[in-house]
Amino acid sequence: VPVDPFDLVVFGATGDLARRKLIPALYHRMHDGQMPEDARIVGVARAQLDAEGYRRMAEAALDEFGGEDARDAEMRRKFLATIDYVPLDVMEEAGWSRLKDALPTACGDRPRAFYLSVAPRFFGPIAEGVHAAGLTDANSRIVIEKPLGHDLASAAALNGVFAGHFSEHQIFRIDHYLGKETVQNLMALRFANAFFEPLWNARHIDHVQITVAEKVGVEGRGPYYDGIGAMRDMVQNHLLQLLCLVAMEPPSQFEPDAVRDEKLKVLRALAPLTRLEDVVRGQYAAGPGMPSYVEDANAPTSRTETFIALKAEVANWRWAGVPFYLRTGKRMKSRVSEVAVVFKSAPHSIFPAASGRAAQNVLALRLQPDEAITLGMTIKEPGPGGMRLAPAVLDMTFADTLGASNMRMPDAYERLVMDVIRGDQTLFMRGDEVEAAWAWVDAITARVDGERPELYEPGSAGPDDALMLMHRDGRRWRELAQ
Ligand code: BG6
Repeated sequence: VPVDPFDLVVFGATGDLARRKLIPALYHRMHDGQMPEDARIVGVARAQLDAEGYRRMAEAALDEFGGEDARDAEMRRKFLATIDYVPLDVMEEAGWSRLKDALPTACGDRPRAFYLSVAPRFFGPIAEGVHAAGLTDANSRIVIEKPLGHDLASAAALNGVFAGHFSEHQIFRIDHYLGKETVQNLMALRFANAFFEPLWNARHIDHVQITVAEKVGVEGRGPYYDGIGAMRDMVQNHLLQLLCLVAMEPPSQFEPDAVRDEKLKVLRALAPLTRLEDVVRGQYAAGPGMPSYVEDANAPTSRTETFIALKAEVANWRWAGVPFYLRTGKRMKSRVSEVAVVFKSAPHSIFPAASGRAAQNVLALRLQPDEAITLGMTIKEPGPGGMRLAPAVLDMTFADTLGASNMRMPDAYERLVMDVIRGDQTLFMRGDEVEAAWAWVDAITARVDGERPELYEPGSAGPDDALMLMHRDGRRWRELAQ
């Protein structure tokens, strides 16, 4: 369904996110018929380019990150025609008039989005600047992305900065994990099927595992990453958002505040972590031909964690006693992101020991590398060999099941940017959610920051203590496939 014509002003238009994600995402939306030709994209950055110069940069971004679809010459021409550019140093008052010249003063019936693809120190000046230039009204919105603060106090201050100029329904806080297909599918799976929900509680679920493992290290991102670490970079946002979607009560409607109210309740129900052994921090060591984290980040004495594993608990009636194990790390064995819901064993076995043991049922939602939902079951081993139990997997790998092996899976940003234009905040974090997540994280970082993280081999599943975290409870992490 095409969206209404819109104006999208991208601050930081020459930066990495804009080139890698936003430009290709917008192109794909036009290619698929969703972005109208009279939409406008206004790039803003300090570089002294004219519109032509910026279009050339956008073309290069499409060549590099746009995939097959970006080869369509006619579509490229149409897309590039929507792009304009305004050189502007947002810290200097003088430049703002150029942006005013490029946009009509009132949004009118065209939604106008300001996308802040810039470092957080510019958030305040830009919110202030667009307001002072008279470029905002009821049809404008502002889009921001992490880091949304580095603790509760700074996140609350940031919320305050935006609240001064925009109302909450105009503020779109991106967590790009919420734009991923499988993450949205988690809601469809839970709330559009009858048979999971009755089992979705402490009576039937043994534990939940959430893994976001990356193969890459921090590479050139050291200056941002050092002192931040996996807890703030990944857990506070992506992993806790996944946890919320698994643990939340059914909202009464698929509507932004109904969904976010339920997620907020989960965040507020997270039990404070009291036992230090429930947190394992790691840092990747050097491997054959691969630098260690401290070399990558050029921070020889750094104690920043590049891996973290946690045992969390949602203290409410539905989840009492069900551990939520979270882990995320860089330079690990493989790139795998998944949510696994592990069910309790059948209460009584009718089969003789010689039949073998039934495995626990596991519902796994894989976000990466390929999107899939699988259900681990126990069946009778086929053949005449008597009653022998064997594991089997009901596998709904999207590419196969949906006949979609040739279908391009849309990038998270495609969905999210169009939602901004439609004004739909369901997949965006509300200010109070961000603060509640920080409140829980702060209590942990206050205790563990500055401790020496355990070194782990690159290409491994993380430090040994992370395995112990589960072994102690008689459980184990799921294998990280190659
Ligand atoms: C970002 C983090 O938010 O998410 C990065 O800052 C991380 O450190 C990235 O690499 C992972 O995203 P994805 O979509 O590749 O899983």
